[in-house]
Amino acid sequence: MSLLLLGRWSDAERDRWLQLLQAELPAERFLLAPPTDPAEAAEVEAAIVANPEPGSLIGLPNLRLIQSVWAGVDRLLQDPTLPPEVPLSRMVDPAMNEAMVHTALWAVLSLHRHFFALARQQREGLWQQPEQRRAAEVNVLVLGLGELGGRVARALAAQGYAVSAWSTRPTEQAGLRCLAGEAALQAALAEADVVINLLPLTPATQQFFSAARLAQMRRGAALVNLARGAHVDEAALLQALASGQLGHAVLDVFAQEPLDPGHAFWQHPQVTVLPHCAAQTDARSAAAVVLANLRALREGRPLAHQVSRQRGY
Ligand code: NAP
Ligand code: GLV
Repeated sequence: MSLLLLGRWSDAERDRWLQLLQAELPAERFLLAPPTDPAEAAEVEAAIVANPEPGSLIGLPNLRLIQSVWAGVDRLLQDPTLPPEVPLSRMVDPAMNEAMVHTALWAVLSLHRHFFALARQQREGLWQQPEQRRAAEVNVLVLGLGELGGRVARALAAQGYAVSAWSTRPTEQAGLRCLAGEAALQAALAEADVVINLLPLTPATQQFFSAARLAQMRRGAALVNLARGAHVDEAALLQALASGQLGHAVLDVFAQEPLDPGHAFWQHPQVTVLPHCAAQTDARSAAAVVLANLRALREGRPLAHQVSRQRGY
């Protein structure tokens, strides 16, 4: 049997993955392109993928696992040819989890302590001390209470912030105000000083931050989007910033990536742009996650981090 390694990655990234996997599986056969020969295609047992081109996983009759090295599988699921019967697992990488917590802490601290505004003040040579609030006086709402959102919410609560977290299923977690449902969401949006988006991109969450949703937020609040660009109506966001409905946006992800050089976000004084780097997969720790799932597959144990095709995450 063989393992197919496919993705929209540079040769160096792909070689890094290959090296890490081969170090643990020296006898394994790896394919680096979709097989064209039917006999070779029949040998493929698992595909380790980084958002490969649509259609790349057609015609693999013995494929038993699609392992994404991305946490979000929205792009993979947009491929109508993705074999529906093959289990799909997504990446849950300890290094990525840690990085996301760091990015969220930085964003909330920067907003709470006015560090974005102070950086602007420095450029203007302005000496002006801002109001200092306690963390407990800052309401943070985290949308999504999963692997990333859950860790981010708990880390913020540990810093003393007043944290609410919203998810599909009602749940309880010490130190967090856990919410579910539209009414609870609207009430929390109206109170939150900072809203952090860590929802998966699904048909239910496309354009989640519409003009109407942005209007439900507390006036002057900040939006931190660390999930997907398509969660946000970008024109409505610019409008909300212009009207003062929103005070600031920290954006790691965009409708179009890389962000167009002429996009209004780049020079906007109330927007902080990151190049989709809030939390990257670290091949060193992520390879161990992939190998553990391959072992589970071969030993007939349950696969980790399986995606529900029905829910889309
Ligand atoms: P996850 O573990 O699957 O968690 C998703 C959470 O969202 C769950 O709490 C789920 O609720 C909730 N949810 C899903 N749909 C919902 C809806 N319609 N309404 C309310 N809550 C909903 O995902 P994760 O690992 O935390 O990752 C979240 C997303 O982060 C990924 O999908 C990806 O797009 C993004 N991401 C971005 C970066 C970056 O660098 N910017 C890096 C990695 C990932 P239930 O628990 O009730 O199901
Ligand atoms: C990054 O955005 C990921 O989904 O892994």
